[in-house]
Amino acid sequence: MFAARQDSADSLLRAPRNVAVIMDGNGRWAKARLRPRAEGHRQGVKALHRLVERSAELGVEVLTVFAFSSENWKRPATEVRLLMELFAQGLARWEAPLREAGVRLTVVGDRSAFSDSVVRAIEACERGTAGGDRMLLQIAANYGGRWDVCQAARRCAEADEAVTPENLEKYLATAGTGEVDLLIRTGGEQRVSNFLLWQMAYAEIYFTETLWPDFNEASFDEAVRWYQGRERRFGMTSEQVRAASGLTGL
Ligand code: IPE
Ligand code: IPE
Ligand code: MG
Repeated sequence: MFAARQDSADSLLRAPRNVAVIMDGNGRWAKARLRPRAEGHRQGVKALHRLVERSAELGVEVLTVFAFSSENWKRPATEVRLLMELFAQGLARWEAPLREAGVRLTVVGDRSAFSDSVVRAIEACERGTAGGDRMLLQIAANYGGRWDVCQAARRCAEADEAVTPENLEKYLATAGTGEVDLLIRTGGEQRVSNFLLWQMAYAEIYFTETLWPDFNEASFDEAVRWYQGRERRFGMTSEQVRAASGLTGL
C-alpha cells in the first residue's frame, strides 16, 4: 500500500528534513461537487496517503499533518463523529503498510478528549509502527499550538527546570523532532490556525489554493522546489549566509 524503500532519481530533489502540513479545503472540495463534506474528508485521507508515500520517497525525516485541531470540536457533531471514525479506521488500516514501509506513526495532541476506542486505535498503531526508522509521521489530533506550549511549560515547572527554550522543547508533544523547515497550507487560507506555533518559528511557509483532496505528488514536489529557492537567513544578512555556505563572490 505504501511504496517500499527505493532510491530513485527523485533523491536529486532534496527534500526539507521536517515538513508540516495544514490539510485544508476538504469541505469546499465537496461543496464544489455538490457532495456531502464527508466525501471531501474521505478523499482527504487518500491525499494524505499520497503525501506520506511521496515524502518518504524524497527523504523527509519528519512529517507532521494537522488532522483535527483543538478548535474543530466546534463543528457539527455528525462531522466530528465522522472525522473520529475516519481517524480510527485509518490508524487500523495503515498500521501494517506503514510498518512495512518503515514509517513510524505517532499522534500528537491532547488524547484525554478521545473515546476509549480511538485511544486504543492510536496506541495500537503507535506500537505496531514503533520500529520504523525511515520517516516519522506525526498526526496532530486534538492539537493546538497554545496547548502544546502551555503543557510543556507546566511539565518544565513540575520537573523544577528553568523555563528555557531548550528545556521547554523537551516537553513539547513533538519533542526531539526539531524545527519545522517547510509548512504547507492548502485550501487558500493564509493563516496558521493554532498549529505548531513554537516549532514553526523559522519555517518557510507555502500557501497554495489547491484544495486538500486535489493535492498530489506533483503539488508536493512543487512546494519542495519552492522551498529550495528560499534563502533561510535566521536573522543574519544575506552576505553572512552566503559566506557560511561558501558562496562568497557569486
Ligand atoms: C480540513 O478541511 C479538514 C479538517 C479541518 C478536519 P475542512 O473541513 O476545514 O475544509 P474547508 O476549509 O471547510 O473547505
Ligand atoms: C485547520 O483547518 C485545522 C486542520 C486542517 C485540521 P480549519 O479549517 O479548522 O482552520 P480555520 O478554522 O479555517 O482557521
Ligand atoms: Mg477548513
